[in-house]
Parts: sequence; structure tokens; C-alpha cells
Amino acid sequence: MATFSSLPGFREFYPEDYAQRKHIFQIWRQVARRFNFAEYDGPVLESLELFTTKSGPEIESQLFCFEDKGGRQVSLRPELTPSLARMVAARANGLKRPIKWFSIGDNFRYERMQKGRLRCFTQLNVDILGEAGPSAEVELIALMIFSLTGFGLNEEDFYVRLSDRDLWMLYLRALGYEGDAIAAVLGVVDKWERMPEEKLVAMLQEIAGDKANELKAQIDAFLKIDSVDAIRERFASLQLSEEIQATLDQRLADWRQVLDGLAAMGLGGFVKLDLSIVRGLAYYTGFVFEAFDKKGEFRALAGGGRYDALVRKMGGPDMPAVGFGMGDVVLGELLKARGKMPDFIDAIDFFAVVGGDAEMQAALADVALLRSAGYSVEYQLKPQAFGKQFKAAASAGARFALIYGSEELEKGVVKLRNLADRSETDVPHAQLLEAARDLI
Ligand code: HAM
Repeated sequence: MATFSSLPGFREFYPEDYAQRKHIFQIWRQVARRFNFAEYDGPVLESLELFTTKSGPEIESQLFCFEDKGGRQVSLRPELTPSLARMVAARANGLKRPIKWFSIGDNFRYERMQKGRLRCFTQLNVDILGEAGPSAEVELIALMIFSLTGFGLNEEDFYVRLSDRDLWMLYLRALGYEGDAIAAVLGVVDKWERMPEEKLVAMLQEIAGDKANELKAQIDAFLKIDSVDAIRERFASLQLSEEIQATLDQRLADWRQVLDGLAAMGLGGFVKLDLSIVRGLAYYTGFVFEAFDKKGEFRALAGGGRYDALVRKMGGPDMPAVGFGMGDVVLGELLKARGKMPDFIDAIDFFAVVGGDAEMQAALADVALLRSAGYSVEYQLKPQAFGKQFKAAASAGARFALIYGSEELEKGVVKLRNLADRSETDVPHAQLLEAARDLI
């Protein structure tokens, strides 16, 4: 007989797994609402071109794409950001700014299978559009942190690495690089931690020729920077044009605003200046940031940054934007590893414990009445001994048992037992709803 297993990288959620998934979504939603973000969603299937032109080459190689029956080249979404930019571009004039939106949905990437990376994963996306200043970064990085502390994780468990593509561009310009060469260098920096040194130098040679070793040393020096003062010092060692100096001063003021804002919220301890983050996606323009577990055991928990040009590229007006995505896979692994994934029972209000067929008739009427009033009620679908039924009531987490024995049937009542303190009262059927309201 043929066996049909699920596809590699696609998860099945049995109820106990689904409970964990629901827990993650619940906290994400609560936190996004606390920051007053509105929930939205985009299509799961998009035209292939949306991602080949907007997401960049890394994502392009991972697309789940095919031709649909109408001959269209389409792709499951690998990320939500291009769809969001298009949605905002289409209604830009009617939307009140800043636009603060969040979404929780599935994304698909045909990745090489590895720990923390699947082919279907759920992402929380949070974005602010229409605010150019670093106050938007403060709000989003704070939200990224709250989305993790909401699960009981703390400064010992994770941190946010904050970097800046603007600053990198300024640095590379100060070193004499321009345009495509800058983009190429950033592409190499993105691979810095993952590639052997000879390979890095070979890639830099293609950009800088015989200055490759010098460029490597300059990049290494920049990667060591861990404070705003150290950025200033690094630039001070170079000959800067007036224009670059002025842009640098403005940028360092932006850095101060982000770091001071987060410190004022009491979140300074979660954030580390780390210029090794440049992000692989094509559209980022300014600050970029990623959250990691502190022990370095897992891949990134979340990542994002500023993308000020994307809405215009989607046919909209100039619209600065910044946002991040947080996946459920690495987060779930980290919560389990740190003992922060609670055990769940979807507890019920009542469990009907029923003697025989005649009693079942009375029980069914009460069960239906309570359910239509909004209570959760369970009973055994086939006859069982009382003892077994009480055990089932306990494992279902019921707060009260409704007992239907021959004595109760004769008296026209149901015996209501509080399963926590074992106290009991007889309640006539007609008064059951009233009694339930007093209890729950
Ligand atoms: P990203 O860095 O590609 O950014 O993904 C963000 C997060 O999604 C990652 O840190 C990781 O937790 C999760 N993730 C990504 N790929 C996988 C995978 N194959 N399996 C499991 N989890 C994964 C973006 O997607 C940007 N669109 C985020 C953004 C929103 N930027 C601005 N706004």
C-alpha cells in the first residue's frame, strides 16, 4: 500500500502542537494590539514577478513557483513585504499616516532543510509606513523586544543586533567606492560569517582588484565597532568630504535617537550595535536589525529594517517604511529549550456524567441549553461507568460535573459538583442556566 507522508518542510499540527502554535499567535496579536497596530493580510499566491523584482536573488532561488492553469507565472509568497508595499501604494492617499499594520500568516521558501528553517513557516509581520524619522525604528524595535518578552524570555535569552546600511554606504563612499561596487561589497559582508576567508578575498578581488586585502582590513575594522563613539572615531581616521561629514553627523544623531529612545523605554540592555548585519533582501535602505538567542544556538528569531523606496517602486508615492518579520519556527524551538512553552489544556466548563439511556435524554437537553448559552460542555458518546466518566472530566479540565443518576432523574434535578472543592447542589433543570451564570 502506498504511504503518503507530508512533504519535507511542511508541518502537521496535532492538537497538542496546535495549542503551542495558538499560544504564539495569541501573544503576538496581544503585543501588536498593545502598540495599536491594525491586522491585515495579503494573498498567499502572487505573480512570480513581484518577488523576482522586489525580494532579490537570495529569495528568488527559493521560490515555490509554477505556471497556473491560465498560463500565469505565479509563486507562493516567500514573504509579505512586497504585497504590503503594493497594498499601501494602491490606497496611499486615503490611508492615515503613520500606517501601523501587522499580519500573521504562512510563507513558503524552498530552502535547503536545516535546523530552524522549514519550507512553510508562519511569520508575524509588523510595519510602519509614512514615518521617515528614527522614532519609527524605536517603536518597531521595542515591539520586536516585547514580542519576545511576552513569552517570558528576557535579556539572558535574546538580544537585538542593530546595524545600518546607510552608514555602510557612507563608509564605503569615504573609502572611494560608488554605486554597484557598494551593493556588491554589502553582498559580501552579508556572507562574512558564513564563508571562509579565501572565498571572501576572492569575492572582494572582483570588486576592488589589487586593493582587496586593504578593503578586507577596512571591513574587518568596521565590523569591530560596538558604539556610536567608535563609529565617529573610525570615520575620523579617514579624509572626509564636507558632504560626507555632514551626512555622517546627521546619521549619528539618528543613531543616538534610536538608542536613547530604547534606553528611555528600559530596553537598552536588549540592543547591541553590530554592523555585521546587512540583511540579504534587496530593498533595505537604512537601519536593519535582527533578533538572536544569546547563546548563539539558533538561527535568527526575527529580522527587518527600513525600506524607503519600495512603495514608490510599486507605483505609489514616496513613502518611507520600516518593519520586521518574526518566524514561529525558531521562536518555538527557543521557547521549548528555555522551558517557556507552557503545557496546555483547553479546559471546559461542564462535563455531564450520565447513568443510562433515560438519564441521557435529560442530560442532552441540558447540554444543548448550556452550549447555546455559550458554555463549553462535554459528555461521553457511549455509556461508561461513573468512575471512568469522572476521570474523563478531570482530564478534560472541567470545572463542574453535571451528574445524572437515577435518583436525580426521579427528583427532576441535576446534581452540580464543583470538581475543585467537591461541593454539591441539586439544581432543577429549569434553574440550570441561572445556576451556571452564578458560577461562571
Ligand atoms: P527574513 O529575515 O527573510 O525577513 O525573515 C524574517 C524571519 O522569518 C526570520 O528571522 C525567521 O525567523 C523567519 N524565517 C525566514 N525564513 C524561514 C524559514 N525558511 N523557515 C522558518 N523561519 C523562517 C523578511 O521576510 C522580511 N520580509 C521582514 C520584513 C518585514 N522586513 C520589513 N518588513
